[in-house]
Amino acid sequence: MDLVKEIKRLKEEKNAVILAHYYQVAEIQDIADYVGDSLQLSQKAAETDADIIVFAGVHFMAETAKILNPSKMVVLPDLKAGCSLADSCPPADFEKFTKAHPDHVVITYVNCSAEIKALSDIVCTSSNAIKIVESVPKDTPIIFAPDKNLGHYVAKQTGRDLLLWDGSCIVHEAFSIDKLIELHKKNPDHKIIAHPESEEHILNTATYVGSTSGMINFVREHAKEKFIVATEAGILHKMQLEMPNTELIPAPAVDDNTCACSECHFMKMNTLQKLHDCLLNESPQIEVPEDIRVRALLPIERMLELSK
Ligand code: 13P
Ligand code: SF4
Repeated sequence: MDLVKEIKRLKEEKNAVILAHYYQVAEIQDIADYVGDSLQLSQKAAETDADIIVFAGVHFMAETAKILNPSKMVVLPDLKAGCSLADSCPPADFEKFTKAHPDHVVITYVNCSAEIKALSDIVCTSSNAIKIVESVPKDTPIIFAPDKNLGHYVAKQTGRDLLLWDGSCIVHEAFSIDKLIELHKKNPDHKIIAHPESEEHILNTATYVGSTSGMINFVREHAKEKFIVATEAGILHKMQLEMPNTELIPAPAVDDNTCACSECHFMKMNTLQKLHDCLLNESPQIEVPEDIRVRALLPIERMLELSK
């Protein structure tokens, strides 16, 4: 069976839209109706008139699409496609944490479960975190969760004293500073660009720090230069597709014996076959209990409003 042809046929027949994150395997990015970062994908999910949203990303992303579209069917190619960062913030513990600091505004990075969003005042992504934090009056204390690395970076950029949750992403914490310095010594003309989920010592080496779409825009605007890219390696597909002559090297991870880069095994659980099957079988579907959905919707809507 020609999977690509069959996916396109099913998509037409069922009025489905395929949204894919930049960390998806190349074949999925190539067949998607829209490829984007977390914010762009939430915005697309909010405005789609498709009946079925096939979310080629991880669970929290598909869940966000469902929170925004309760009457639409949202399917995820592999239900086990989770996120270490989302897992690092269990709802019961986070509720205790927020209750211990009732005067704080709670800003949560979108990489968290619906239950955590339901405990939040405003959601943010890596492309709008600074703007969202700055939208809170200066004298109001802020809890920022779950990513401590992004939190540190935003605190430094805004000069705000954020109360951080101790969560992180295994993919971005896998970068090795020693190997990065070594690689840069061998390639001194390459500029380092990094995602803010990376640790501070990695970010300190970077010419540019930003979300996945921010990094792509930066390479597009400086296409004649060379880059070492410190984020999940899937992003290189989009960069090379648009800028085939730009020299790019993925940043090295501590344990880099296999791919010499850092890959998100959750993102890579989705395959073209699974994408086909979930569209054909309309399963696995994402469901969010209505009471949680209603509470989680408000902070997401605040983010979308502040991002216009
Ligand atoms: P972006 O919002 O930059 O797409 O990041 C999503 C993500 O999961 C990073 O690990
Ligand atoms: Fe989660 Fe990290 Fe994978 Fe992004 S790269 S989905 S934060 S585990």
